[in-house]
Amino acid sequence: MDIIIRDSPQAVGAAVADRIDAVIRAAQGAPLTLGLATGSSPEPAYEELIRRFQEQGLSFAHCQAFLLDEYVGLSADHEQSYAATIRRMFTRHVDIDDAKVHSPQGDAQDPEQEVRRYDAAISDAGGVDVQILGIGRNGHIAFNEPTGSLASRTHVQVLAQSTVEANARFFASEDEVPSHAMSQGLGTIMEARKIVLVALGEDKAEAVKELVEGAVSARWPGTILQHHPDVTVVVDEAAASLLELRDFYATLERDRQDRQAELSAPAH
Ligand code: GLP
Repeated sequence: MDIIIRDSPQAVGAAVADRIDAVIRAAQGAPLTLGLATGSSPEPAYEELIRRFQEQGLSFAHCQAFLLDEYVGLSADHEQSYAATIRRMFTRHVDIDDAKVHSPQGDAQDPEQEVRRYDAAISDAGGVDVQILGIGRNGHIAFNEPTGSLASRTHVQVLAQSTVEANARFFASEDEVPSHAMSQGLGTIMEARKIVLVALGEDKAEAVKELVEGAVSARWPGTILQHHPDVTVVVDEAAASLLELRDFYATLERDRQDRQAELSAPAH
């Protein structure tokens, strides 16, 4: 894992945006599949990507997108559905075709059939090229709560009480937070070719410590990412505060930057 620690949410957002931007520009207009996450942690990254679209000609016209998850029971036009949230937060401000922003249908009549359809739709689209992820306080990624299978596919997930409490801030009361969600599985997420995980704030410090330095275990679902060959974890100082090997991560980052500079230096 590449670990990047920055001193503000804006700097974290810029580091995440740099990585997405690089993948988009490298594709040179060829079709590309983005994996998008809701939640507040990726917000500064989306703001930065919108700014680059507006000011630097970064285009999403050749992209399609798949969301990680959706609440069971909420239709796409419910204000707090993730389908509506990602549009409000990001996609409607850039030039991606709205019909190509996909998410599980929260109000599908048969949720079990819907999760199978969604998992297959991601594969049929050729898989995700670059996936943005957040992480929950209990270590969940998407809505994969502790003790779920580390190889799971897209599934209906019972939400942990701590997740319901954390997400109650978006609803009028805790009672209105759906008890179930449809979530890409850990096995599904692991198939993304590149992953950029973002975490902000002291609340996430324990989850980040386990994610980066803990043992791989179903207790901390995000730890499965240690088995992925291309993961970047971008965090602020508060979320990094429990990491033991911070100096080493800074050394590794300087080394990557030196090698990058050598690669881009003109040949003599
Ligand atoms: C939700 C989402 C996750 C997200 C997590 C953290 O439960 N399903 O995808 O990563 O919350 O969200 P936040 O970034 O708002 O702390």
